[in-house]
Amino acid sequence: MAHAKPGYDPISLAPLKFWSKSPRQREASFQVLRDERPVSWHPPAEGSMLPPPAGGGFWAVTRHADIVSVSKNPVDFCSGQGVMFEDVPDDILEAASSFLAMDAPRHTQLRKLISSAFTPRRVAKIDEQIRGQAQRVVDQLIDTGDCDFVAQVSRKLPMWTIYEMVGLPDDLREAAAEGADGMVSWADEDVRAGREPAELLNESLITLIKVGLDLAESRRAAPGDDLMTSLVQAEVDGQRLTDEEIAAFFVLLSVAGNDTTRNSISTGMKAFNDFPDQRKILQADFAATAGTAVEEIVRWATPVMTFRRTATRDLELHGQQISAGDWVVMFYPSGNHDDRVFTDPGTFDVRRSPNPHVGFGGGGAHFCLGSMLARTQLKAIFDQLMHRVPDLETGEPIRLAGNFIDAIKSMPCSLNR
Ligand code: HEM
Repeated sequence: MAHAKPGYDPISLAPLKFWSKSPRQREASFQVLRDERPVSWHPPAEGSMLPPPAGGGFWAVTRHADIVSVSKNPVDFCSGQGVMFEDVPDDILEAASSFLAMDAPRHTQLRKLISSAFTPRRVAKIDEQIRGQAQRVVDQLIDTGDCDFVAQVSRKLPMWTIYEMVGLPDDLREAAAEGADGMVSWADEDVRAGREPAELLNESLITLIKVGLDLAESRRAAPGDDLMTSLVQAEVDGQRLTDEEIAAFFVLLSVAGNDTTRNSISTGMKAFNDFPDQRKILQADFAATAGTAVEEIVRWATPVMTFRRTATRDLELHGQQISAGDWVVMFYPSGNHDDRVFTDPGTFDVRRSPNPHVGFGGGGAHFCLGSMLARTQLKAIFDQLMHRVPDLETGEPIRLAGNFIDAIKSMPCSLNR
C-alpha cells in the first residue's frame, strides 16, 4: 500500500543550486537534517533526464548508522531498479551500470567474477607498478613546475592504474578517461559546452563502449595477462559473458576507477594545504601515519556523494512511512560528518582512529570493489608528494556542478622550490 507522503522538507537536496555550494555549506544543511529529520522527503532531483513520475521524489537518509543499515539490507533496499538519484533512461543505465545496479544472485556472480580476476599475483604486480608510476607522475610534476594539479597529478595515476589492469593500450587511455569524465559531468554547463545532458552522456557512453568492445575483440584474438582477457574467457553458469555485459563492465570500471581516486587526491592535497599541521605530522613519520591518513583523506573527500536504493516493501524508518517502490538516497558526505560517530568531524585529522567512514559505501554487498587499489594509490602518491614537493601549495579549486561525484575540475598549484 502506498502511504501518503509528507510535505517536502524545507531543506531541499534536489536543486543543482544546493550541489553548487561548497562542501562546508552543504554540511550545514546536512547537520540540521541529521539532528532534526534523519529521514526526510524531497522533490525529484533537478537535472533528471526523464520527467519525474507523478508524486515522485526521494527519501534522504543522512545519518551514518542509517546509511550503514540501508547498505547492509539489500532485501528491503534493492539496487536492481537503479542506483542514481536522478532518473536516467533505462538503456543508458543498463549499458553503464553493470553489476552496480543489480541484486543477488546475478550481482553476486558477476562481482565474484571480477574479484577473482584480482588475483594475488596481479594485485602484487600492480601494487609495485603503482609505486613506480607515482614516482614518474611526481618526476613530471617537478619538471613542469607550477601547474594545474588535477591535470598534472590527480588525473594521471588513477587512469594509469585502472587501464593498466584492464590491459588498455597507452594511446587509448586518454580518450577512455575523457569518456568516463563525461559520464559524471552532465550537470556541468562548462563540460557540456552547449550539449544537452543526455547528449553528453550518450557520446561518452558510445566512446567507452567502443573502446571496451575493441579491446575485448583484440583479447579474444590474442589473450594477455590482464582483466579484459579474464573477462572474455570467463564463464558464468556455463556461459560466456555477452558483449553488452563486457562493455558495461568496462564502463563501470572506467568511471569507478578514474573519477573517485582522482578527486580523493585533489581534495586530499587541498586538505594538506589548509591543515599544515596535519601535513607536518604525516611528513614526520609517513610509514606510521599513512594508513590512518589515507582513510581520513577518503572520509574528508567523500568523492562519491550519493547512491540510491529502492524500497522493496512498506517499512518505517525514524517514524517515516516508506512505501514499496519509493526511492531511498544515501548521502555519504553527511554520514562522514555525523558527530554521533566522528569526534570533531569538521577537522581533518590524519591520525583519526577508529575511522569507520562510509566513503567506500556503508558496507554490504556493493561495498567498493576497488577500495584496496584506491588505498594503494593514495599511499603511493602522497608518499611522493609529502617528501619530494614538501611545500606544495594549492590555489582555489574549480568545482564540477552535480550531485554524484564531488569533483575538482582544476586547481592551481605552486611547488615553492
Ligand atoms: C577513493 C576512491 C574510491 C571511492 C571513494 C569509491 C567509492 C565507491 C562507493 C561509494 C561505491 C558504492 C558502495 C555501495 O553501494 O555500498 C563503490 C562501488 C564500486 N567501486 Fe569504488 N570507489 C573508489 C575507487 C574505486 C576503484 C579504484 C575501483 C576500480 C577497481 C572501484 C570500483 C568499484 C566497483 C566495481 C564498485 C561496484 C561494486 C558493486 O556494486 O558490487 N572503486 N565505490
